[in-house]
Amino acid sequence: MKFDDAQLLLDKYVKGETLKRHCLTTALVLEFWAKELGEDSQFWKSVGLLHDIDFELYPDQHCIKSKEILEAEKANFSGIDDVLIRAVLSHGWKLACDVEPLSKMEKVLYAVDELTGLIFACAMVRPSKSVKDLEAKSVIKKFKTPAFAANCSRDVINEGVKMMGMDLKEVIEKTIEAMRLNASAIGV
Ligand SMILES: [Fe+2]
Repeated sequence: MKFDDAQLLLDKYVKGETLKRHCLTTALVLEFWAKELGEDSQFWKSVGLLHDIDFELYPDQHCIKSKEILEAEKANFSGIDDVLIRAVLSHGWKLACDVEPLSKMEKVLYAVDELTGLIFACAMVRPSKSVKDLEAKSVIKKFKTPAFAANCSRDVINEGVKMMGMDLKEVIEKTIEAMRLNASAIGV
């Protein structure tokens, strides 16, 4: 799916600035990871943008409503296919649905959805309020402090990193790099 189409589709269902920023952050970080791994960066970026499309309107039916919305919007937007829908649903594995992340994209999405939230929170408590001078070791320290950004699930991040077959420090370093490259777009 083309990113411009994904943006039009997201704008139909998400109006709040915080969720919009989270969706854009996830999109840009997935784009970065796709390039790192030699995958289809436009497709990964579109999935990242759309992964929480139902969350503003239907927080209690997260992922279930995404499936319905995306199926219904197939008639209006080109590029919505079963691969995209499956990827969107899989980020709610064990939490909101039973679609297990299996593809590389799904595994990275599962890890970075929560991790970008933690990194953002780490940046916001710095004097600079930026990822530009944020180091992985400081994120790891906060990762081990459960009370800090407690809504960012360490279990989900750990599971995602394990699925990616990488170690936590490496995934954090790369994700910080992705956020630094897009710092002005995501306001961090
Ligand atoms: Fe998300």
